[in-house]
Amino acid sequence: MCGIVGYIGNKKAYPVLIKGLSRLEYRGYDSAGIALLENQDKLNVYKRAGKVQDLVDYIGDSSTEGNVGIGHTRWATHGLPNDTNAHPHFSSDGNIMLVHNGIIENYDIIKKELTKRGHSFQTETDTEVLVHLIEEVYKKSGVSIEEAVRTSLNEVHGAYAIAVICKDTPDKIICARKSSPLVIGVGEDEYYVASDATPIVEYTKNVVYLEDEQIAIVDKNNGLRIISIANVEVSPYIQELELQLEELEKGGYEHFMLKEIYEQPRAIHDSFRGRLNASEGWISLGGIKDYEEQIANADRIIIIACGTSWHAGLVGEYYFEDLARIPVEVEYASEFRYRNPVIRKNDVVIAVSQSGETADTMAALKMAKAEGATLLGIVNVVGSSISRITDAGSYTHAGPEIGVASTKAFTTQVTVLAMMAMAIGKKRGTISDKRFNNLLIEMEALPTKIEKLLKSNDYIQGIAEIYKDASNALFLGRGSAFPIALEGALKLKEISYIHAEGYPAAEMKHGPIALIDEEMPVFVIATKGPHYEKVVSNIQEVKARKGKIIAVVTKGDTAVREIADHFIEIPDTDDVLVPILATVPFQLISYHIAVMRECNVDQPRNLAKSVTVE
Ligand code: M6R
Repeated sequence: MCGIVGYIGNKKAYPVLIKGLSRLEYRGYDSAGIALLENQDKLNVYKRAGKVQDLVDYIGDSSTEGNVGIGHTRWATHGLPNDTNAHPHFSSDGNIMLVHNGIIENYDIIKKELTKRGHSFQTETDTEVLVHLIEEVYKKSGVSIEEAVRTSLNEVHGAYAIAVICKDTPDKIICARKSSPLVIGVGEDEYYVASDATPIVEYTKNVVYLEDEQIAIVDKNNGLRIISIANVEVSPYIQELELQLEELEKGGYEHFMLKEIYEQPRAIHDSFRGRLNASEGWISLGGIKDYEEQIANADRIIIIACGTSWHAGLVGEYYFEDLARIPVEVEYASEFRYRNPVIRKNDVVIAVSQSGETADTMAALKMAKAEGATLLGIVNVVGSSISRITDAGSYTHAGPEIGVASTKAFTTQVTVLAMMAMAIGKKRGTISDKRFNNLLIEMEALPTKIEKLLKSNDYIQGIAEIYKDASNALFLGRGSAFPIALEGALKLKEISYIHAEGYPAAEMKHGPIALIDEEMPVFVIATKGPHYEKVVSNIQEVKARKGKIIAVVTKGDTAVREIADHFIEIPDTDDVLVPILATVPFQLISYHIAVMRECNVDQPRNLAKSVTVE
């Protein structure tokens, strides 16, 4: 939700900011803006509703001078996504500029107080209130700009990652964070500030991840200084980035989403590389090694997540219950955190998150931590907030996911959940050696099987063509394929804006069957396995009502082929791993339909990749 970027050094700030904003655009694309400090007397501010490219077009030939600047790409919370509400926001005298990712919850009270003191506000945003508060402290108390920022932050409630520049101190950027991420890149006599490392990686690999309630004073002449908002000095901990620049490019694909779908063989391979070996018969997740005993003896596993990651959690429930025989609850983080749930010390809470920054998932984790539960993370972004708050965990190693619709992040989450459940099942003796070894072989075969499956892309595109104008769609599955029905429906609705529902196949007759007519495409996972016959009966029920069946079947299946309108074959695998393979055709169907409907596949309307506000 919103991306912020900043630069101070000897280069021209403008190209760095614009490139950085383009990289962060996945976080929000309602409006964009920059402030460039040309010199102590000249501060240029440009803001525009729309995308970063709209901002660039708007700036045109205007002055883009200056070696210091900040920028913002917005996902609107307070106020319409128009030019006025776009960041940066500025103080009454226009001398202080601020960009913000997060929400200032008590902005209304502060706004009233500042209004009494003579401030007037141009925008509907919470952010403008914060910059006026900083100005008030700065002018009235005569303190330094960093002290004014620190004092002001002590007055606000909510979440923030901010970057502030001030005409009086043109060699400094002041930044701070609480519950919204912020990274500082440390170069040679130059510094970068950003919501994540993607705008920084091409300039320097040395970064400092700011912690909650820390303020960084980035000074071109005097280096980087970090203090807490309680004014305690902190030594900056510089880490080296593993991220590669090529991972952030489209690499010849038309969209990031398609590239990321095609990266799944590699991503899944990376998620288990060095963690299992079928010929030697072992699985070992280094990140949870020290906690295996605790997980194996847990009374209960609670999986918390949002969106697609929640669907992965649902698949995880089948895995842990089936393979490790531990009771599991899967919770929407946003519901869990406000429900006064019973959490016990012997519970293991697993957070699943691509970004590792989702606000609700973070808040739910903090709550579970306070109750003494053991916290594990299954996270993609290395060094993210969730990876840092959890006691242990396993990265998914999917690599950067830029498309807003989650694809490779999901299949790698499911892969890691399967490995965890297998490792714990092995430890508890709840999985036979035969099944364990067979699963290892099947896991190792997954990348090759997905590669084969991706060869059906053109054929799947043909099916997409037939259903591209549908207004509604149903997705059905049973057992661990039910979460895949949910995920298939989410993918279709979020990128093509077709209304879609996912249901357990047998639930259909309890209501949704009323929707079925000759116009309704029904996507069904009907692979060979324990539910096969039952699903075939459910397909017959749809056909009897003239619904259109698009079935995902195991290669070589003949029975479903005969009754389905269309079928998509996936390679045969253990039933446990069907969710991973069955996901891919639905990703491709959604992708092609969205392209045919001329939707913005990588940046669907109203969405943002990283939901750092509740
Ligand atoms: O970064 P996270 O995995 O925590 O994000 C959770 C959801 O916001 C995310 O999965 C969202 O549902 C995606 N748009 C789905 O494609």
